[in-house]
Amino acid sequence: MNGSSNQAFAQALPSTDQSWASRLCCLVGAAIAIAALLFVMSSVSVTATAYAETPGQNAGTAGQPTRNIPASIEGTPRDPEMWRYLRGGGAGDSSVPDQKAGTLIQSSGEQWRVFRVEYLPRYGSWALGGMCALLIVFFMVRGRIRIETGFSKKSILRFGSIERFAHWLLAVSFLVLAVTGLHILYGGEIVKPLIGHAWFAKVAWYSKWLHDYSGFSFIVGLILVFFLWIRDNIPDRIDLVWLRRGGGLLSKHRHPPAKRFNAGQKLIFWFVVLAGASTSFSGICLIFPFTFTPFSETFAALNLLGAGLPTDLSPVQEMQLTLVWHGGLGIIMIAVIIAHIYVGSIGMEGAVDAMTTGYVDENWARQHHSLWAAERISDIRPNESELPVESAGSVSVADNSASRQSARGTS
Ligand code: HEM
Repeated sequence: MNGSSNQAFAQALPSTDQSWASRLCCLVGAAIAIAALLFVMSSVSVTATAYAETPGQNAGTAGQPTRNIPASIEGTPRDPEMWRYLRGGGAGDSSVPDQKAGTLIQSSGEQWRVFRVEYLPRYGSWALGGMCALLIVFFMVRGRIRIETGFSKKSILRFGSIERFAHWLLAVSFLVLAVTGLHILYGGEIVKPLIGHAWFAKVAWYSKWLHDYSGFSFIVGLILVFFLWIRDNIPDRIDLVWLRRGGGLLSKHRHPPAKRFNAGQKLIFWFVVLAGASTSFSGICLIFPFTFTPFSETFAALNLLGAGLPTDLSPVQEMQLTLVWHGGLGIIMIAVIIAHIYVGSIGMEGAVDAMTTGYVDENWARQHHSLWAAERISDIRPNESELPVESAGSVSVADNSASRQSARGTS
C-alpha cells in the first residue's frame, strides 16, 4: 500500500474520537428506548390492576363506567385483564354524547340475540302449535259443547252495547297486534320466501307501524273491559266448586253452578288484564327506548323477597330484557287467546251470540251460568218468531224492553 492510499484509508475510518461519540449516542438512545419500554409496561400493568380492582368488571357481567379506562386500547390486545374487562361488557368513557358507545362489547347482547332468533321463535311455535293440537284433540274427544236441552227460543240479555264495543275493541286490536307481532317474529322465515324481498320490506314496514299504533286502542279496550267486568270477576267460593269439577268441560250433563262469569272466565279475565297491562307497558318502553328502567326497579322490589337479582342493569340490558318479556308474554297471550276464541266460537254452541247480538238463549244460560240465569229471569225475552208466548215454568216471558234498559252492566 503506498502513502496516498494509506491516507485515503485513514480518512475512510472514523477517528478514535468520532467512534466514542457515536457509541455514546447509541447508549443514550438505547437507555431512552428501555426507559420508554419500562414506562409503557408499567403503565399497562397499572391499568390492568386498576381494571382488576374496578367493581362489576368480571367476565360475564356488565361493568359500570370507570375513570380508569384509557382513551385508547391500542397496544394492549395481549392484555388478558383488558380483554376480560371488555369481553365482560365493561364500559369506558366515550367522546360522543351517547355514553352507551363506551361499551365496546355487549356480551348480554349475544345472549339476547340467541333468545330472539332461536329460542323465542322455536318455543313460540311449540306453544302456539301445542295449543292448536290440544284444542283439536279436545274437539275430537269432547266435540262441540251443545245446549243439552236444545234452544229454548227465549233469550236473556248478556252483554250491553258498551260491553260488546269494549270487547271487540280489545279483540280486534289484539288480533292486529298478534298478526303483526307474529309477522315481526316469523315473517322473515315464512312470508319473505313467498312474496320476495321488495314486498316483504313493504309489508314489514306496515306491520311494524300497525303493531305500534294498535297497541293504543288495545290499551283503551283493556281499561274499558277492566272497569266494566271487574265486579263480576271477583273470585268467590263457587269458583272452587267449578274448578274442582273441571268446569264440567269433560263430562256431559254435569255443569257446575256459576254466576255471570265462571272460574275459567275469571281466570281468562285476570290473565288478560294483568298480561295485557304488562305487554302494553313493555310495548311503551320499546316505543320510547331508554326512557324507563322497569327491570332494575322490579328486580330491586323482588330482592326484598330475597330473589338476589341484578339491579345495576345498563340501559341496553334494560331494553334487551324488555324485548324478551314483551315477546315471550305476547306469545303466551296469543296461545291463551286461541283457546278463548275456540270456546267462544266453535267450541261451545250458543256462546258467540253473547258477543254478537248481546243475547244468549235461556237454556244456554241455565246450563253454563245457572246462578246468573236465576237472577236474570226477568230479562228473558221471546224471540221475534215466537211472539206471543206464554210463561214457561218459573221463567216469565214478556216484553222485556223495560228490563233490558234496567239490566245491570248494560247500556
Ligand atoms: C275472534 C275472537 C274472539 C271471539 C269469537 C270471542 C268471543 C267471546 C265471547 C263469546 C265471550 C263471552 C263469553 C260469555 O258469554 O260468557 C267473550 C268474553 C271475553 N273475551 Fe272474547 N272473543 C274473541 C277475542 C278476544 C280477545 C282477543 C280478547 C283479549 C285479548 C278477549 C277477551 C275476552 C274477555 C276478557 C272476556 C270475558 C271473560 C270470558 O268470557 O272469558 N276476547 N269473548
